[in-house]
Amino acid sequence: MADSGTEPRNTLSVRDNRTGRDYEIDIHEGDVIRAMDFRQIKVDDGDFGMMTYDPAFTNTASTRSTVTEIDGARGILRYRGYPIEQLAEKSNFLEVAYLLLKGDLPSSNELDQFVHDVTYHTYIHENITKLLNGFRYDAHAMGIMISSVAALSTFYPEAKDIHDPDNRWIQIVRLVAKMPTLAAFSYRHFQGLPYIYPENELSYTGNFLNMLFRIGVSKYESNPVLERALDILFILHADHEQNCSTTTMRVIGSAQADPYCSLSGAMAALYGPLHGGANEAVLRMLTEIGDVKNIPAFMESVRKGERRLMGFGHRVYKAYDPRASIIKEAAHDVFEVTGKNPLLEIALELEKIALQEDYFVERNLYPNVDFYSGLIYQAMGFPVEMFPVLFAIPRTVGWLAQWEEMLEDKEQKIARPRQVYTGVGERQFVPIGQR
Ligand code: CMC
Repeated sequence: MADSGTEPRNTLSVRDNRTGRDYEIDIHEGDVIRAMDFRQIKVDDGDFGMMTYDPAFTNTASTRSTVTEIDGARGILRYRGYPIEQLAEKSNFLEVAYLLLKGDLPSSNELDQFVHDVTYHTYIHENITKLLNGFRYDAHAMGIMISSVAALSTFYPEAKDIHDPDNRWIQIVRLVAKMPTLAAFSYRHFQGLPYIYPENELSYTGNFLNMLFRIGVSKYESNPVLERALDILFILHADHEQNCSTTTMRVIGSAQADPYCSLSGAMAALYGPLHGGANEAVLRMLTEIGDVKNIPAFMESVRKGERRLMGFGHRVYKAYDPRASIIKEAAHDVFEVTGKNPLLEIALELEKIALQEDYFVERNLYPNVDFYSGLIYQAMGFPVEMFPVLFAIPRTVGWLAQWEEMLEDKEQKIARPRQVYTGVGERQFVPIGQR
């Protein structure tokens, strides 16, 4: 690029060759320009002005955020400045939830209060169980969850007052507390098992496992290794900045919908196989491959573009997803308890091939968070339908932290992108008999 020889300035010079006019656009925070600054670029006064075109928002920042930082090129993920590796090793899910929601790690008293509040909001209104009973016996747990979270909006009509921070906090606590209960009840529904109600003396994940797996009146003793592994998985999934479901949460929330409706929409986005549904898709893919000897034929179909290697690739990471490395480690601890998942061999072989082959190397396709998590979930006894639900429980914290941030951000308004209209121009209506 030519060096103009002038003093460096934090601006961008733009020449519109249609008119010969020059514009100077401010550059903010390193490399950011405001799309609205281009609106002044016009051919004449009647012109709408220039806009940017960015399908799928691949190069558009929709917000400033202080919640989560990702450096995709270097495989770095931090919540409120803390490296994910440290949080996974030294913290626990509710402490991380507090960090994400409030911005700082809690004091001992603050954490006790938060854990107490979350623990005492775990019950759901009995009528929600009637709603659950209305679903078909084989209804997908994620479909049940999306509907029942939306239904919570009708039980807490005061949640509509999204301008009151205290009121928002009550709804946040309720959602963090009730998600495991709704998830466990959804699971029990399609298993045809009676619901097990929350037990307040158990930990967040211990209570969840108890509501899922207890049979009869005998106490369910969760294995501490599995309980901790689930807690780590929850930490890793708690937030991931402006992904598809978080953007959905912010977009719905920007219309000032209540948090239950907004979160239900975010969950619907997460359900898709390109997003949080990928862990389920990975397990189905590994099961379909079935044997290491079938891998070459499968990889050939991926190279031809007929299939995707699920659990690989990421819009932001162009290096190994740091969450995948931590999960791979945690998998060893889990398999010591549960025995090795027979699909692990296929997964490891797929990874080995993918990390060497040109197709994957050229496109920076590395394992993402979903590649190994499903193997752990399956070894712990979860059916595949529960995998996206296990993603949604912790991500609830991130959605709510981002929703709160959006509501406090004076620059945010109702989300409303522009379009480039490419349809036909005006034409006259022709009555049906004359067409
Ligand atoms: N297998 C095979 N090829 C792939 C894959 C894959 N998993 N992912 C991307 N590619 C190829 C793609 O075909 C394209 O090739 P070409 O340039 O020849 O057309 C190139 O890589 C770029 O792909 P893209 O679709 O433009 O990339 P994207 O940033 O739009 O997509 C992604 C990101 C995560 C949707 C995609 O990598 C994918 O579909 N992965 C599989 C699904 C998955 O594991 N999703 C979980 C993501 S992590 C957790 C989460 O966010 O929920």
